[in-house]
Amino acid sequence: MSKKLKHEFVEKHVGWLSILMIIAIAIGGLVEITPLLYQKQTNEPVVGLQPYSALELEGRDIYIREGCNNCHSQMIRPFRHETERYGHYSLAGEHVWEHPFLWGSKRTGPDLARVGQRYSDEWHYVHLMNPRDVVPESNMPAYPWLDENTLDGELTAKKMQVFRSFGVPYTDEDIAGAKEAVQGKTEMEALIAYLQSLGTALQRAE
Ligand code: HEC
Repeated sequence: MSKKLKHEFVEKHVGWLSILMIIAIAIGGLVEITPLLYQKQTNEPVVGLQPYSALELEGRDIYIREGCNNCHSQMIRPFRHETERYGHYSLAGEHVWEHPFLWGSKRTGPDLARVGQRYSDEWHYVHLMNPRDVVPESNMPAYPWLDENTLDGELTAKKMQVFRSFGVPYTDEDIAGAKEAVQGKTEMEALIAYLQSLGTALQRAE
């Protein structure tokens, strides 16, 4: 078979064409992904990274429940217009204990990857009760019920155990004290604790 014929054969047999295309694409994918699996920089926690406390972990679940991630990304890209606004670009090592990641791509509101410690707890409280009270032109929804709902902490220890099975270094004491740490706290307190923790590992490392 001449070279031309072989090529014609592939083009005229859709089954072979599909299989060979999948193989070609798979090789391309593997070339991109495999090195990342073995790079320290993408696998290991950055210096200063701490697992979420029990209260922060509950806050994260509220963040997901309320769909905050539909309007806010948590991923600062390495471009000057991003780093000048939000701070140091996001590093893979800051997110190794996140399950699932909340990077997102939709930015109706600003990126929150480094919002931790930027505002006071009081600011967040007023903002979440009614964003218009601090940012008059804001179109972010208000979340007043977070201040009324309290946490019972029934599942907090269980959640931490699940995270530990994924490799998050929770200690036995963390897990034993989880319920007590969140019981009776409002959802608002938990969410603010979570927000205040975002992106602070690098600050600690410095
Ligand atoms: C409909 C889209 C939308 C949703 C949903 C939303 N936000 Fe926002 N958010 C915005 C917009 C727009 C702004 C900018 C105006 C402002 O500060 O209110 C903002 C601002 C913020 C800021 C201030 C960020 C900064 O750097 O100034 C925080 C913190 C925040 N949102 C947290 C949350 C949390 C927590 C939730 C979920 C409970 C949430 N947002 C849900 C749109 C949204």
